[in-house]
Amino acid sequence: MHYTLPSLAALAGVCYAQSTFSPLRPPALPLAVRSPYMNTWQQAGSDGGNGGYLAGEWPSFWMGQLTGWTGFIRVDNVTYNWLGGSNQSALYVEQTKYEYTATKSIFTMNAGGVVNMTVTFLSPVIPDDLLRASLPYTYLNVDVISADGAQHEVQLYTDISAEWVSGDRSATAHWSYGTTTQNVTPGSPSVSSSAASSSPSAASLASSAASSASSAASASSPVSTASASSAPSASSASSDASESSVTPSAPSPDHPYGTRTAYDLTTMYPRPFRPTHMPGAEAPRPTNFLQDRDARALAKRDAGSVAYHEVFRQQQLTFSESNMQADWGYWYYATEDSANLTHQSGADVDVRGAFLSNGVLANTEDANYRAINDSFPTFGFAVDLGLVGSCSAETLFQLSLNQDDCVQFEGANGNQAVTCLWKSYFDSNTAAVGYFYNDYKDGDTIADAFDQKVASDSKAAGGDCYTSLTALAARQAFGSLVFTNTPDAPYVFLKEISSDGNIQTVDVIFPFHPIALYLNPTLLKYMLDPLFINQEAGYWPYMFAIHDLGSLFPNATGDNDGNDEMQPLEECGDMMIMTLAYAQRTNDNAYLTQHYNILKQWNEYLVQEALIPANQISTDDFAGALANQTNLALKGIIGIEAFAQIANRTGHAADGANYTQIAHNYITQWETYGINNATTTPHAELSYGNASSYVLLYNLYADAELGLQLVPQSVYDMQSAFYPTVFNTYGVPLDTRHTYTKNDWELFCAAVASSSTKTQFISTIAKWLGETPTNFAFTDLYDTITGGYPSTPVFIARPAVGGMYSLLALNSAPSSGYVTPS
Ligand SMILES: *[C@@H]1O[C@H](CO)[C@@H](O)[C@H](O)[C@H]1NC(C)=O
Ligand SMILES: *[C@@H]1O[C@H](CO)[C@@H](O)[C@H](O)[C@H]1NC(C)=O
Ligand SMILES: *[C@@H]1O[C@H](CO)[C@@H](O)[C@H](O)[C@H]1NC(C)=O
Ligand SMILES: *[C@@H]1O[C@H](CO)[C@@H](O)[C@H](O)[C@H]1NC(C)=O
Ligand SMILES: *[C@@H]1O[C@H](CO)[C@@H](O)[C@H](O)[C@H]1NC(C)=O
Ligand SMILES: *[C@@H]1O[C@H](CO)[C@@H](O)[C@H](O)[C@H]1NC(C)=O
Ligand SMILES: *[C@@H]1O[C@H](CO)[C@@H](O)[C@H](O)[C@H]1NC(C)=O
Ligand SMILES: *[C@@H]1O[C@H](CO)[C@@H](O)[C@H](O)[C@H]1NC(C)=O
Ligand SMILES: *[C@@H]1O[C@H](CO)[C@@H](O)[C@H](O)[C@H]1NC(C)=O
Ligand SMILES: *[C@@H]1O[C@H](CO)[C@@H](O)[C@H](O)[C@H]1NC(C)=O
Ligand SMILES: *[C@@H]1O[C@H](CO)[C@@H](O)[C@H](O)[C@H]1NC(C)=O
Repeated sequence: MHYTLPSLAALAGVCYAQSTFSPLRPPALPLAVRSPYMNTWQQAGSDGGNGGYLAGEWPSFWMGQLTGWTGFIRVDNVTYNWLGGSNQSALYVEQTKYEYTATKSIFTMNAGGVVNMTVTFLSPVIPDDLLRASLPYTYLNVDVISADGAQHEVQLYTDISAEWVSGDRSATAHWSYGTTTQNVTPGSPSVSSSAASSSPSAASLASSAASSASSAASASSPVSTASASSAPSASSASSDASESSVTPSAPSPDHPYGTRTAYDLTTMYPRPFRPTHMPGAEAPRPTNFLQDRDARALAKRDAGSVAYHEVFRQQQLTFSESNMQADWGYWYYATEDSANLTHQSGADVDVRGAFLSNGVLANTEDANYRAINDSFPTFGFAVDLGLVGSCSAETLFQLSLNQDDCVQFEGANGNQAVTCLWKSYFDSNTAAVGYFYNDYKDGDTIADAFDQKVASDSKAAGGDCYTSLTALAARQAFGSLVFTNTPDAPYVFLKEISSDGNIQTVDVIFPFHPIALYLNPTLLKYMLDPLFINQEAGYWPYMFAIHDLGSLFPNATGDNDGNDEMQPLEECGDMMIMTLAYAQRTNDNAYLTQHYNILKQWNEYLVQEALIPANQISTDDFAGALANQTNLALKGIIGIEAFAQIANRTGHAADGANYTQIAHNYITQWETYGINNATTTPHAELSYGNASSYVLLYNLYADAELGLQLVPQSVYDMQSAFYPTVFNTYGVPLDTRHTYTKNDWELFCAAVASSSTKTQFISTIAKWLGETPTNFAFTDLYDTITGGYPSTPVFIARPAVGGMYSLLALNSAPSSGYVTPS
């Protein structure tokens, strides 16, 4: 699996032991996982991975295409490969250990037995610091120390290729080299086009009635909303006109929001994507935009000079993707500028060859801007560490992506480009690069504290196996997010990675949301806000809640024609549950008041539809549509009780009493419809009355998460006793239709199960994670017998693994079952 060059290895007398993996060897090892576009892994699983070794194999984007990333080390004139699949002649390091924490992948290796290396990939997970969360950047720290006590001449090399800058390998790449103190590379098109002139997006994406936070923002923001409407292409807002038949009129008092109740099953798949207009040039940035908002941003940017390769797609296609990679934005590969640093750009074989021959690079730049795959343009650094003995030598590299605009969003005033949040803090790409590089020491300390918190809380909640799940899930879950707009009104958008690429999918935020509740419930508000804003503006024509804000990230351009993937019960229940969960944990009842009307509308739908669910899909759409789904009905009924509490929390006493009564009445009926009680191990059925079926009753989790105590304890006990009777090697099937399962839902079940059943779920999932042949990032859907992917679909790198945090999210669950009106 991990191949070496045997003759050279023999020549050097090196013995290649196997690496250990701690806490386990994941299917793919996270390397740079910070956003939907900075999402690179090392494939390990036996389906196509190399067993978990850093050297000898190219890192790849979550979808599988290679993202060239190389590391060599030269020790006493002998060169070893420690990262990447370059076939140019070098020995391989011996990797002895791989370990991961919530934010780090740490490889321990030695070169020729004479120097030890610790190679650490740090992708911070930042739930509550908007500045540090705002820009996708990742660190690669390389620590070298003599292994035999003697001093050795050491030079370190690393590069990236242009494969990071677009998924279209025939696209032309452009690049330049610079340092942050020299500030601007003369003639560099990126600096003039990207750094200087675009404004933070309009602050008033929300209507004035929307959030108090965002209206405060629009009042205080120096930025006018003129940018979108004054854009030349706003004339192509005639594309809006061509959609006039679906452009809703202003909400009327009678029908404030969507009103359609019926939907046609046959329109659910497939749906065409409707492009909207491109935003045009934006207004110039006001000079005072930084204000004194965050002195940190200014303090660190110039603290130490940083050298960087800047690489980007020459023709920037804002909001476009090729093979799921971004076609816009500026990539920076950076390190400390020093006298011992050399750099070079050029063809892969030339740049790597220069280091292999000389141990230094030529400090030259290739000006032949060309296709990504045309003699692969490559951007290298070489650092002369001099003599390395028993004091370690540490070198830090940083990879970052700067985009000006992150998403398009159909807010109260129609489609607008929304700037990336980092633009509120930094006046240029390179200022951000310099800040984050010089922030490493603090960032690393914060990451260590974060890792320890996740590890100790996880261990307390579910033991060591549980820790192995939460640690691997953190980067992946947050790697689906982008932070946008302004610090006063941040919007966090989620990409439904791999399963469609929808943006802000409600039933994908739902499995994600336990990690938000655990780390920072307000993050959930930042994600719900765009959904409320869009639907309260009246764009979505149905009475029930929307599935997503657009079929392809980053275009949250709405689903105004109602041509969405309909999951009416699922999404109404999810919105109700997540909104209350946020408000309970922050005591933000004003948020509930603000959105009371539309929540009441969705509740009305639940009252009509939840008890006897029509034939429809649930979030597990791949399993097909079915009427009377027991688990879906449960979500809807819990949603009604959640709304009753929302009513009580907002002083709507009559609604609170009425819907509490309805929910309790429904749950009693639900027990008679959906439970097979005539068997030795009673259990919930997949659908009402189907005695030969069972289902993971994962929506029970919401009752516990909200502390509602709506569902009788006997149902919890019944499921707890039942699951152990249907475990396969790698878990309990989702339901009786297939042998596949969803590990997020298994964890929802585990979180509310007895201690022994909880342990059984956790240990089988951990076993699966360490043994699965799958070789892409942590899938949430797999076969419980083979451990491999189901025949279809293949889920990769999805934010649904936030569901691994379901045990931890219960730590903040209310202990009382009800709240009486104030
Ligand atoms: C490495 O090569 C250089 C140049 O040939 C030579 O001066 C140096 O002594 C060599 N170092 C070792 C440890 O062999
Ligand atoms: C390395 O691979 C390239 C193709 O990727 C091939 O053209 C070249 O011959 C290979 N070089 C060696 C030394 O194997
Ligand atoms: C080098 O690594 C080996 C394990 O591979 C370890 O036993 C040794 O203590 C390390 N030496 C130093 C100086 O880190
Ligand atoms: C580059 O990629 C394009 C599209 O994938 C392909 O058509 C072309 O042949 C490739 N060019 C080279 C030089 O490999
Ligand atoms: C987003 O919409 C723009 C048009 O506004 C289009 O050019 C782009 O391709 C779309 N992005 C995706 C991923 O479909
Ligand atoms: C820089 O390189 C020189 C020459 O190899 C070496 O003596 C010195 O220790 C290096 N300095 C650092 C900071 O690595
Ligand atoms: C759904 O369940 C209800 C209650 O048991 C039953 O009356 C109805 O016929 C079922 N619907 C379908 C389509 O099976
Ligand atoms: C209770 O709610 C139902 C369903 O929304 C409604 O039809 C009924 O009028 C309400 N009853 C009271 C007393 O508010
Ligand atoms: C199941 O049957 C037992 C014994 O008859 C009864 O006590 C219990 O209430 C029943 N549970 C449900 C959910 O119907
Ligand atoms: C009951 O469930 C089983 C297992 O999922 C399924 O094969 C069967 O078709 C279902 N029967 C009915 C009547 O829905
Ligand atoms: C709402 O308040 C009423 C009392 O007015 C109480 O009976 C009911 O249990 C409360 N419901 C919830 C879900 O808190």
